Amino acid sequence: MSLKVAILISGGGSNMVTLADSMTGDHPARPCLVLSNNPDAGGVKKAQARGIPTAVVDHRPFGTDRAGFESQVQAALDRAAPDILCLAGFMRVLTPGFVDRWQGRMLNIHPSLLPRHKGLHTHARALEAGDAEHGCSVHLVTPELDDGPVLGQARIAVRAGDTPETLAARVLAEEHRLYPAVLRAFAEDMKTS
Ligand code: GRF
Repeated sequence: MSLKVAILISGGGSNMVTLADSMTGDHPARPCLVLSNNPDAGGVKKAQARGIPTAVVDHRPFGTDRAGFESQVQAALDRAAPDILCLAGFMRVLTPGFVDRWQGRMLNIHPSLLPRHKGLHTHARALEAGDAEHGCSVHLVTPELDDGPVLGQARIAVRAGDTPETLAARVLAEEHRLYPAVLRAFAEDMKTS
């Protein structure tokens, strides 16, 4: 019986696509849900084109009521009953209450070499810091933002003339390689433990 993976997105969903497309053959997991907080996220249609069940929980009507938004997210997840959550370009900060329910089986990909550059605008910050290296990290999600145990990283050299945009493009290509590899190892470990 395959493990079930729910993927949370907010935008184009390129990481969701590579994760979903990696879960084939003898991969121990399969995608069971793609959930977006953004009704206009391009990733929703990409998931539907792959026959993956989708759900949209628009965060905007909840305003600052994060718990209210998350209770709707949790209801959608309860219906899908995933074993693993993958945050993939998901741009909402989750409350400790939500994280506690999933801690240990919720992964996120962050576009920096954690613990450097937690938070937003990581590519511009790497350039401003004069970093020689940059990259991305897959980590377990804990209540502290971008702070959980790192499961895998991919590194790129920062080149003279790089801009936040050129860095973002090279990092995203690495994300698309790293996240599926880390998810497969994580799922295999979960299956055998
Ligand atoms: C990208 O900037 C990526 O670095 C980060 O989320 C953003 C959107 O990714 N993880 P996606 O194309 O929606 O997966």
